[in-house]
Parts: sequence; C-alpha cells; structure tokens
Amino acid sequence: MTERKMMAVLNGASVFPPPIWVMRQAGRYLPEYRATRSQAGGFLDLCYNPGLACEVTLQPIRRYGFDAAILFSDILVIPDALGRKVAFQEGEGPVLEPLDLDRVGALDLTRIHERLGPVYEAVERIRGALPPETTFLGFCGAPWTVATYMIAGRGTSDQGPARKAALRDPDGFAKLIDVLVQASIAYLARQIARGADAVQIFDTWAGVLDESEFERWVIAPTKAIVAGLRAIHPGARVIGFPKGAQALLARYVAETGVDAVGIDWTMPHAFVRAELQDKVAVQGNLDPMRVVVGGRALDEGVDRVLEGLGAGRLIFNLGHGITPDADPANMARLVERVRAAKR
Ligand code: CP3
Repeated sequence: MTERKMMAVLNGASVFPPPIWVMRQAGRYLPEYRATRSQAGGFLDLCYNPGLACEVTLQPIRRYGFDAAILFSDILVIPDALGRKVAFQEGEGPVLEPLDLDRVGALDLTRIHERLGPVYEAVERIRGALPPETTFLGFCGAPWTVATYMIAGRGTSDQGPARKAALRDPDGFAKLIDVLVQASIAYLARQIARGADAVQIFDTWAGVLDESEFERWVIAPTKAIVAGLRAIHPGARVIGFPKGAQALLARYVAETGVDAVGIDWTMPHAFVRAELQDKVAVQGNLDPMRVVVGGRALDEGVDRVLEGLGAGRLIFNLGHGITPDADPANMARLVERVRAAKR
C-alpha cells in the first residue's frame, strides 16, 4: 500500500494540497451524530459502546472523506478509569468529583485497562472499517489539561483552581501529573497496538501557565509521554496541541519530541514558519468561526492558511474544535477548497 497522505507529512514530507481533518469532526454539528448520540444514553455510554463509537467516528469520513479519522472518545475517560466520578450534563459540560491533592495516592493505575477495554475494542473495529487511505488517530488529554478538570471538578474560564493547587503544593501536584503520565503512556500504547496510526495529545489549557509552570506541567510531562510511548512503540508518531501556548510553542517543539504541533488560529504564520515548521509538521489553524460564518470569510481564511503555511509540512485543520452551530455544508466547502488548491 502506498503511504497514507497524512502519515507522509508526519514522517517528514511536504504534501500539497495538504492532508485535512478537523478537530471534533464527529460531533453535534452533524445530524447523524445527534441521532446516534440520542440512542446511546449518556455521553460516556457512547464513548464506552464500541459499535456506536465506531459508527460516529466513521460518520464524518463517509460525509467528507477526510484524510484522518480520530477515535471517538473523550479526554476524561482517564480520570473515569482511575476511579473518579465523571458525568456529562446536558448543556453544562463535564462534572467531576473535585480531587484534593491529599487523595492522589488513592488513584488506581492497576485497573485502567479493564475500564478502557471498550475503547480498545472500538479502536480495532474502526481500523477494520476505515478506507485504507485514511489515517487513524488515537488521542489522550495532556496531564495538565486533564488535571485541571480533576482538581476543579468542571471546566473553568482560567483554570484558577488547578493553577493555585500547583503553586501551593507542587510536590502533591507532581504526584498527580506523574499518575496521569503513566496512565497516558499505557492508554496510548494500547491504542497503537490495536490499530491507531498516530496519536494526538490535547493540551487545551496549556495557555494559562507562566513559563516556569509551562516547563514543569506541559513540557516535561509531554516529553515523558513521548519517550515512554516510543520505548514501547519505537516509531510512534505524536501530534502535540498545546493550545494558546503562543511563543512557548518554540520550546514545546524543541524539547518534547513531538512530530507535529497543533497551532490555534491566533498564531501568526510568519512566526510558525520561522520557529516551528522547519523542525516539525504543523497542524491548523483556521478559526472555527470561519466555518460557522461560511462564504467569503471561510474562503479567505482557507486561502490564507494555504498561502502562509502550504509551502512546508502542513496538516490542514482548524485552530480548535468545530462548534455545534457550524453548517455541515460549510464543512463540505472547506474540504473542497483545500483539495482544489493549486500552488
Ligand atoms: O475530535 C473528535 O471528533 C473526537 C472526539 C473528542 C471529543 N472530545 C468528543 C466530545 C475529542 C478529541 C475530545 C477531546 C476533549 N474533551 C478535549 C480536548 C480538546 C478540546 O476540544 O479542547 C477536552 C477539553 C474535553 C473535555 C470535554 N468533553 C468538554 C469540556 C466537553 C463539553 C464541552 C462541549 O463541547 O460540549 C466535552 C463533551 C464532548 N466531547 C462532546 C463531544 C462530541 C460533546 C458532548 C455531547 O455530544 O453531548
């Protein structure tokens, strides 16, 4: 088989037009997702149902023929598998039982694979059902971002609870991060063993830390996961997405060992070319609102990303997840425009 287009870029090639997939491509903007979701019961029931998780993973591939599929799951299955209570409430997002750092010793790493078994089963089914040319991505949340939800028990606007916990009790916080590093390595290694071609580490809240905290809670754990994963699967390809990291992206790329870096829509293309794209592939960075608005706003945004980053190693994506109010027809227009692009 010829090399999958997205894998070629992760392996070092520049390809034009670039491969394209979209964060949250399986989700509420698609009517077929909403239909499957309503059959599943709770959101976690959908994540732990291999048949339905496989179905929703494939829906955007059938509709748009993206170059990559991403496993349908959530970053919060790891706290769930570690024995914390996790619930998703309609219209509210995730709710967890807030974790006190004194209780980190009670997190149980020995039984995570039991709870995550249905996710591995979904991985195997998805690889079996995907077209051969489609790259299959596994993923996990980065330890820092997962910890922010575990400590606060919910999403917050600035992750104040986790930032304060890390500053007040760095040793206790380091123990939590270490558990999450170990869990993430084990989880990603199984995803690769069962059929994922590459993995993405989502660090949605990387942008709220100062440089020394970023070094300790974003760079060091990510580097440990990349190294730990490659000790098990030497050729493992990893995409890191430290959203909002801005100029610290340069250190993230230089120090973590990732093969590609996700960039949000605020990143200037000149900076990305000069500081990042000569070292790794870059993934991004269309503003998701351009897909909601469509028309000229969408076309111009697509053209700018292709002009700004298309000469180097690029995986076309949004700068963060697609939002539920996006029109599926705009997504089709986006894919068509990228695929028709000429240098
Ligand atoms: O990208 C994909 O299509 C794969 C599936 C995926 C989901 N969540 C499904 C989901 C992935 C990769 C994630 C990652 C995730 N989950 C992140 C990191 C990436 C990011 O978007 O920042 C984070 C922070 C979470 C935690 C989480 N899950 C939140 C904060 C929420 C509520 C916010 C929201 O968008 O509703 C979720 C729920 C969630 N995860 C939904 C989906 C499709 C929507 C819930 C539903 O369908 O009922």
